[in-house]
Amino acid sequence: MKPKFGIIGCGSISRFHFSGLKKAGAEIVHIADINEQAAAPYVKEFGARFSTDCLRVLEDPEVTVVSVLTGSKHHREICLAALAAGKDVICEKTMMDNADEAEEVVIASLTSGRLFFTAFMKRFFPAVQKAKELLPSLGRLFSAQVRAYQNWGNFYELDNADEYGWILKNYGGAVVKCAGSHMIDMTLDFLGRPESLYAHVDYVPGSRLDRKASAIFEYKNGMTASFETAVHPLKKIGYEHNSWDEYIQINGVNGCIDIYTVMWDHPENNGALLVHYDNERETSTEYRFDAVNPFDLEMEYFCDCLEQRKQGNPGVIDGFNVDTVIGAISESSQKKAAVKIDWRGIL
Ligand SMILES: NC(=O)c1ccc[n+]([C@@H]2O[C@H](COP(=O)([O-])OP(=O)(O)OC[C@H]3O[C@@H](n4cnc5c(N)ncnc54)[C@H](O)[C@@H]3O)[C@@H](O)[C@H]2O)c1
Repeated sequence: MKPKFGIIGCGSISRFHFSGLKKAGAEIVHIADINEQAAAPYVKEFGARFSTDCLRVLEDPEVTVVSVLTGSKHHREICLAALAAGKDVICEKTMMDNADEAEEVVIASLTSGRLFFTAFMKRFFPAVQKAKELLPSLGRLFSAQVRAYQNWGNFYELDNADEYGWILKNYGGAVVKCAGSHMIDMTLDFLGRPESLYAHVDYVPGSRLDRKASAIFEYKNGMTASFETAVHPLKKIGYEHNSWDEYIQINGVNGCIDIYTVMWDHPENNGALLVHYDNERETSTEYRFDAVNPFDLEMEYFCDCLEQRKQGNPGVIDGFNVDTVIGAISESSQKKAAVKIDWRGIL
C-alpha cells in the first residue's frame, strides 16, 4: 500500500524532505507546525490538511507514516505518540536527546511492529554506497580517520556565547550533534560498534556550546577510529575549498578508501568523492559521481521500504547507536578517562 505522509515541523530541514518526497511521488496528506507561516507554502503546494497541534496528525486515520522534523528535543514525545497511534516513523537525526530516550524509543518501536527510519541522509551519497561495496576488498581493517569540520565562524574568540544558545535549545548540543553525528553514523555503519572510547570535548568557556570534540573509538580486534569534529573560521579548506572539510578514511591490509562529502545543503554543486587504493594492483582510483541530492535518494528509498513493508536502514537501532556514542563521548570527556560503551543489550 502506498504510504500517506503526515509531516511534523516545517523548518530548515523540511524543504529537503518535501522536495524528495515530491520527486518520489509520495502523498502528503497532513502537515503540522506550531508556526502556521512556516507550513503555509507546503500546505498549499501539496493540498494537505494543516494543524498547529501535531497530535491532530497522529489522530488522522489517513496518515500511515509520520516524518518528525522538529528540533531534536521534541523527537521523543512525538515518536512515541506516533508509534502508539500505529504510524510508521521517519525521524530526523539526531534521533533523541540522549541514550536513555533512544533506548525507550527502540523498545517502543520494536514492540509496535511499525517501521522506523532515522534520517542519516549522508549514507545515500553514491560515493558512500560504492565505498560499502568496496569495503570487503580492504581485508582486515586496522584504522580509520574521520573528520567533520564546519565553518560556523570563530568560536575560539567569542565575546558572547549566548547568541548561539538557540543551537543548544533546538538541537540539544552543538558541533557533535549537528556536524559529528552524521560521521559517527557513517563510521558505525562501516566499522560496527566500538567497545570503548576515549574523548575530549572543548566547550566555549562558561557555556555548554561544544565547539570541538576528538575521540578514539576502540574495537575488539585492536582497530581504532580517530574522530574529530570542529567548528572553525577557515574560509577555503576542504575538498571543495568551501570551508566544508569532512571525510572518512578506512585502512585495511589490502587497501584503503577515502570519502570526501559535500555540503549538506548544497549537494547539487558537486558529487561526493571516493578514492580507493588497491594494494595488490598498486593503483589508486578516483570514483567521480554526478552531483545528486542524497535527501532525494533517501526519500525514494524510504518510500520504497514503506510500500514494501521492509525495515531498511538507517533504522531505530542506528539512531540509538549514534545517540549512545554521543553520550559516551560526553561521559569520557567529563571523566577524563576511557569509557566502555554500554549497548544496553540492544542488538
Ligand atoms: N540531515 C541534516 O543534515 C540536518 C540538517 C539540519 C537539521 N537537521 C535536523 O532536523 C531537525 C530539525 O532541524 P531544523 O534545522 O529544520 O529546525 P528548525 O527550527 O528550522 O525547524 C523546526 C520546525 O519545527 C516546528 N516545531 C517545533 N515544535 C513543534 C511541535 N511541537 N509541533 C509542530 N511543529 C513544531 C518549528 O516551528 C519549526 O518550524 C533536527 O532534528 C535537526 O538536527 C538535520
